[in-house]
Amino acid sequence: ARVSVRGALGVQSANGERVKVQGWIRSIRSQKEVLFLHVNDGSSLESLQVVADSSFDSRELAFGSSVEVQGQLVKSPSKKQNVELKAEKIEVVGNCDAKAFPVKYKERHPLEYLRQYPHLRCRTNVLGSVLRVRSEATAAIHSFFKPSSKIKVPEENFFNIPVFLTVSGQLHLEVMSGAFTQVFTFGPTFRAENSQSRRHLAEFYMVEAEISFLESLQDLMQVMESLFKTTAMTVLSNCPKDVELCHKFIAPGQKDRLEHMLKNNFLVISYTEAVEILKQASQNFTFTPEWGADLHTEHEKYLVKHCGDIPVFVINYPLALKPFYMRDNEDGPQHTVAAVDLLVPGVGELFGGSLREERYHFLEQRLARYLDLRRFGSVPHGGFGMGFERYLQCILGIDNIKDVIPFPRFTHSCLL
Ligand code: 4AD
Ligand code: MG
Repeated sequence: ARVSVRGALGVQSANGERVKVQGWIRSIRSQKEVLFLHVNDGSSLESLQVVADSSFDSRELAFGSSVEVQGQLVKSPSKKQNVELKAEKIEVVGNCDAKAFPVKYKERHPLEYLRQYPHLRCRTNVLGSVLRVRSEATAAIHSFFKPSSKIKVPEENFFNIPVFLTVSGQLHLEVMSGAFTQVFTFGPTFRAENSQSRRHLAEFYMVEAEISFLESLQDLMQVMESLFKTTAMTVLSNCPKDVELCHKFIAPGQKDRLEHMLKNNFLVISYTEAVEILKQASQNFTFTPEWGADLHTEHEKYLVKHCGDIPVFVINYPLALKPFYMRDNEDGPQHTVAAVDLLVPGVGELFGGSLREERYHFLEQRLARYLDLRRFGSVPHGGFGMGFERYLQCILGIDNIKDVIPFPRFTHSCLL
């Protein structure tokens, strides 16, 4: 039977089971009598040790080659692993010119270097771990909102008409939450951001939720905090080794920083308080903090530090800064709306959300086309969006957003 490397390594007391393993050679060591291969297929960080006797023709067995190995799973005499595969047949599926292979497994290449090889970097330990975490987090997010959900991808047909890429599913979600009460979506989102920053992509994945009969920002923030923490905890318990590798090799100290985020209650400050805090430290900034102006990345990062590296919700932004659909707080001369951003260590803004303006007459002055949503049983509601890549950056401690997505698309680089 064909088994994955992960499956093979998981066999508790191996007893000569006949299996077939397919993967790529990570290392070869030949001794007088025996030949050791390590085969990895991406199903886990670890490779499977294959033991063959030296009668096997090892000339074609090069680092990077793809192979199919048949043999018996046996208990390993070495302490390094439980199980090894005693080879009966090794077939090279595809040769590899090991000398020309730009990625050396023994070396620890910087992530920027690996980024030059989008077609090969997935085979390294580091990207392997990041992308297994990405996959685990995707599953955890789906089950957070809908235990045991199955996703069906509809067939796309763009006919012969111009189509637009979505920047957010929010307005559609608002329609849906007006019938199903609580809804979410998780898919690719597009922004023509002309930014080479370490936290912007042209195509990123966004988790969005919309909740009807929502009375307060506090209730919305509770869902955001719980999504953040539950997903991280699921990932930590389902792929601890991949997380550990990222934390150890890419971001030393990140294990403690993540624990710190998970065990503390997230903080809440108002936009007005945030501006006061920033004004006290204005000598640190390129952009002068001022009530009514948007918060810049440098401001967001300062606020998170100021809050002891605990994620912090900033709420109640100036009405003039925010889109038409956010709920009017009807407050003082400094007019605000019920908006919330969650700022996190290392990244800055991770979530953006708000209560929506459900009151017809408030919106009437703001936008005509939105109005019909409010004429037929309008209810208080709110929602948020979370950038999935920024989430992975935040929990793994990865500096550049281009390293948490297999094929990053950004300014002037959307061809791949
Ligand atoms: O703050 P944003 O623009 O909010 C919305 O789109 C709302 N309509 C969501 C909603 O309420 N349903 O985007 C939400 C999050 C940001 O906080 C950020 O994490 C991420 O999406 N994001 C990006 N991530 C990577 N690259 C970009 N260019 C991003 N733009 C936004
Ligand atoms: Mg935002």
